[in-house]
Amino acid sequence: MPDHAPLSAAPAHLLCVVAARPNLMKMAPILSALARQAPAPRVTLLHTGQHYDPAMSGQVFADLGMRAPDVSLDVGSGSHAQQTADILSRFDTVLRELPRAPDAVLVVGDVNSTLACALVAAKRGTPVIHVEAGLRSGDRRMPEEINRVLTDQLADLLFTSEDGARANLLREGVADERIHFAGNVMIDSLRQQLPRAVDPAATLRAHGHACPPAYGLLTLHRPANVDDGARLAALLQALGGLSSQLPLLFPVHPRTRATLQQAGLDALLARHAIVCLPPLGYLEMLGLMRGARLVLTDSGGVQEETTALHVPCLTLRDNTERPATISEGTNTLAGTDPAAIVALARATLDTGGKRGRLPALWDGHAAARIAAVTVPWLAARRGTP
Ligand code: UD1
Repeated sequence: MPDHAPLSAAPAHLLCVVAARPNLMKMAPILSALARQAPAPRVTLLHTGQHYDPAMSGQVFADLGMRAPDVSLDVGSGSHAQQTADILSRFDTVLRELPRAPDAVLVVGDVNSTLACALVAAKRGTPVIHVEAGLRSGDRRMPEEINRVLTDQLADLLFTSEDGARANLLREGVADERIHFAGNVMIDSLRQQLPRAVDPAATLRAHGHACPPAYGLLTLHRPANVDDGARLAALLQALGGLSSQLPLLFPVHPRTRATLQQAGLDALLARHAIVCLPPLGYLEMLGLMRGARLVLTDSGGVQEETTALHVPCLTLRDNTERPATISEGTNTLAGTDPAAIVALARATLDTGGKRGRLPALWDGHAAARIAAVTVPWLAARRGTP
C-alpha cells in the first residue's frame, strides 16, 4: 500500500471567493449545494474584505447561516486601482501558500474582487468558475461592466442566471460548451430565507421608528447617483415630494452616507417623510421589500429580488444588465432625471405597477444545478471518475 492515497483519489478542492454584501446571498446556497454532492468537494471559503462593516458582512453571514471564511484578505476600501492591486497581491500569496492548491477558483457577481481573484487564478493556471456570467448593461462607465466582461473572458466554466446571457457570451467569443444556464442563485437564498424575513414593524421599531401603514423602499449606492452631492440632493429633493404621498424607508449604504454627510443633506431629508436607516441585515431587507408598495433602487440584486417577490420596482438608472427583470419581472427603468422618476413613481402607484412573472429557472434550485455540473467537471479535469 502506498503511504499516501494518490492525489486524484482525494475529493476536489474548490476555493470560493466572497467580497461584498451581495456575494454572500449568491455564495450561501452554492456552499450548501456543494456539500450535498457525493463526493462533496473540499471547499476553502475566502473573504477578500472588500466589505468589512459588521452590517455589510458579519450580519449577513449570520442571517444566511453561512460558515465563517477560512481565509480573509482584509483589503478594505480604496480606489479601484488600489483595492484591485491589494487583492491581486494578497490573493496570489494565498494561492502560493495554501497547503493544497485548489483545483479551481469559484467567483460570483461583478465586484472588483470577482475580477481580481479571477485574474490571479487564471495567471497561475488555476481554472476559474464564474457564477452570474454573461450579464451586460452595455455601459462601460460602470466599473461592474468592466469586471463582468473581463471575468467572463478569464472563466473556464460559466453559469448564467437569465436567458439572454448566453448570447452575450457567444458574441464575445466564449465557447458554447463552457456556458451552463443554471438560473439565479440570489433567488435560491430568497426562497430559503423568506419564511424568516423580519416583519417591517419590528425592523422599524429596532431602529427607533414607527412603521407607516404603507411605504416605499429606497436604496441608492451607484457612484453615478450618490458620489456627487448636488446630484444626490436633487434626487432626494424630488423623492421628498413623492414621500408626502408615500413615505419612503431608506437604508443608507456607507458610500451614500459619506456623501450625505459631506454635502450636508441630513437637513433636507429631515424635512420629508424619508426615514433613514442604517444598512440592514438580509432578513430585515427581505421583510421590507416584501411589504413595500413600490421599490426605488439602483441595485442589481434588488431588481431581481423584487421581481421574485412580485413587488413593483423602479430602477434609477438608464440601463440594466438584468433585462429579464424588465421583460418578465416587475422592474421598469426610470432613468436618472429626478422629475421623471417621481412622475413614473406616481403613475406606478396609481396603476399598482407590474406584477410580472418569474424568469426561467428562478426556481430556488440554481445552486443545485451549479453543483451538479461543477463536481463532475472538477473530477474530469483531475482524471478521476
Ligand atoms: C460594491 C461593488 C458594487 C456592489 C456593491 C454592493 C465594486 C466596483 N462595487 O460597491 O458592484 O453593487 O458593492 O454593496 O466592486 N464602505 C464602508 N464599509 C464597508 C464597505 C464599504 O464604509 O463595509 C464604504 C467605504 O467608504 C468605501 C465605500 O463604502 O470606500 C465603497 O465601497 P466599495 O466596496 O468600494 O464599493 P461599493 O460602493 O460598496
